[in-house]
Amino acid sequence: MVSSFLVESQSVPASQKYVQESNIKNYALHEYAGKNRIAFWEACAEQLSWNKKWHTVLEWNSPFAKWFDGGKLNASVNCLDRFMNTPLKDKVALYFEGERGDQQSYTYEQLYLKVNKIANALKSIGVKKGDCVALYLPMIPEAIASMLACARIGAVHTVIFAGFSSESLRDRVLDANAKILITADGGIRKGKITELKKIADKAVEGLTCIEKVLVVDRSNQNVTMDSDRDVWFEDLVEKQEPYCKPEVMEAEDPLFILYTSGTTGKPKGIVHSTGGYLVGANTSTKIVFDVKPKDIFWCTADVGWITGHTYVVYGPLSNGMTQVVYEGSFDQPGKDRIWDIIDKYKVTTLYTAPTAIRLFMKWGEKYLEGKDLSSLRLLGSVGEPLNPEAWHWYHTQVGQKRCPIVDTWWQTETGSIILSTIPSIMDMKPGCVGKPLPGIEAEVFDDLGNPVSKGYVSILSPWPSMLRGIHGDNRRFIQTYWNKWGGRYYLAGDSAFKDENGDYWIEGRIDDTINVSAHRIGTMEVESALVEHEAVVEAAVIGIPDKVTGQAICAFVVLKDGVASAEMMKDSLKEIVADKIGKIAKPKAIFFVQELPKTRSGKIMRRLLKNIALGQKPGDTTTLENEAVIQGLFQK
Ligand code: PRX
Repeated sequence: MVSSFLVESQSVPASQKYVQESNIKNYALHEYAGKNRIAFWEACAEQLSWNKKWHTVLEWNSPFAKWFDGGKLNASVNCLDRFMNTPLKDKVALYFEGERGDQQSYTYEQLYLKVNKIANALKSIGVKKGDCVALYLPMIPEAIASMLACARIGAVHTVIFAGFSSESLRDRVLDANAKILITADGGIRKGKITELKKIADKAVEGLTCIEKVLVVDRSNQNVTMDSDRDVWFEDLVEKQEPYCKPEVMEAEDPLFILYTSGTTGKPKGIVHSTGGYLVGANTSTKIVFDVKPKDIFWCTADVGWITGHTYVVYGPLSNGMTQVVYEGSFDQPGKDRIWDIIDKYKVTTLYTAPTAIRLFMKWGEKYLEGKDLSSLRLLGSVGEPLNPEAWHWYHTQVGQKRCPIVDTWWQTETGSIILSTIPSIMDMKPGCVGKPLPGIEAEVFDDLGNPVSKGYVSILSPWPSMLRGIHGDNRRFIQTYWNKWGGRYYLAGDSAFKDENGDYWIEGRIDDTINVSAHRIGTMEVESALVEHEAVVEAAVIGIPDKVTGQAICAFVVLKDGVASAEMMKDSLKEIVADKIGKIAKPKAIFFVQELPKTRSGKIMRRLLKNIALGQKPGDTTTLENEAVIQGLFQK
């Protein structure tokens, strides 16, 4: 848990210019939504294009919500078709830039055409409404277009971040029962090629659910194609008709499944609906990012994460925005790449993660010299606490004190932003994520469900983009999010402090998940990977603060008798984690110990390990089974 070092009392107002030009001038929207929550969401839904209007705005059978029941729509129509008879047709939807400097741009009409053809391609290989399509792709236009193509034909997409290993990919494909996998020959990152097709081959080997693998030619790799199963994406897409009739979907039909880590070793497939999710994505983008027709929006997240789903695909596109999409790493070819891209495309709104901001801060201001960042008007942050030092750097160096910062708190499960500052009407406080957005009722509760100033973040009433469940596991859905207060409120899994002004200060996760570079990783997942190593008896994993990545993974490992705990062993343990989960889950530090500290009931005492890793006193050890373990912890 990130402690209260984040709290800083200083508030910073937005510039006069920003306030004057902002779409939101006062609290009227918050007040109206506070008193008329259902009518507010209904008005938001009316901003979208529906085939048939709903008969009921909300049906709430805790914890199961139905939003806009009876309503029918299609998500791709809302992101594309509805602009085809307007001037937006010729507006740029995407400016794409690859790491090597290759560029593409798509107007809304060009993207529409591409999505239609991909949709027809998917249909031609037997994809039907309700089928699941897995995507394992680099951050290229084909990823965005394929998501929209799935939405167009009513297929449920499940995007798996291209940094995940073959085993993680396989688990997710299996859990989602995906019929088709779309991948690429390779992804380009950090000047190297990640051989995605090879990883995908290993992942789907012997899986009967996968009927076809479509392969995008991204990096000119020699790949082995299975003549029965594999098809080149471009070959299939190119020959398709340019129009595919969109499937008319029920508001509650699932739009996608996205996996996230939890407290057990098995990731949770978070299910999102079509209508409610789209209303949340569309509305929150408009409110938080103060959308203007001439904006050039750049959300640096990968589509493999929820931020990429909501603020690269569905939010900006359903608002007709122009965005920048960048495939590569920020230090390629030099550490000024991000500033170059902002300068080149005249980005107005930058939405990134604290880990990236801290990295830019570490690299230094010299990389900003000579770059014209005057197009920027608003900065955003998401994924983990933005510490005041990084906040000030972002505000001063990048925003030149002209651009306010929206620090947005939300989750894969919430689908869209829940807490944020609205700088035109609220002062910003570095380290603080502001207040619930209009239409959201949140609270900080104690164990008994009493409002307190320091406790658990919870959401009191249903909101349209809330998760509809965990794929195939209703019990886990109820247990994880709804059990704490008898089904009344949603338990977010974070602890927070609410100040006298009603503003939230997020402290961190309360469960056994670690937030590394704004990505949630389950301690159990890493532990399971480590114990698969032949030399390991037992392992415990904790998160420790890290200057750049927010938290870093630290593992305590008990080796089998007779195994030498050499440095080489550490490398091979890191490798097994990269292999089983992906590079993002590699432990930064590994300690070899003779025994793990456990409670009398056999639970690993992670708090104690954390104290020891941080060089602090062990704290209360009364429940520790064997006090001698502490002395033995660092023996090699
Ligand atoms: O702990 C909170 C942290 O990220 C978690 C959600 O992770 P994920 O589902 O991967 O989604 C990340 C992007 C939305 C939360 O439970 N978190 C997210 N945003 C913030 C944050 N912590 C502090 N400040 C934030 N702005």
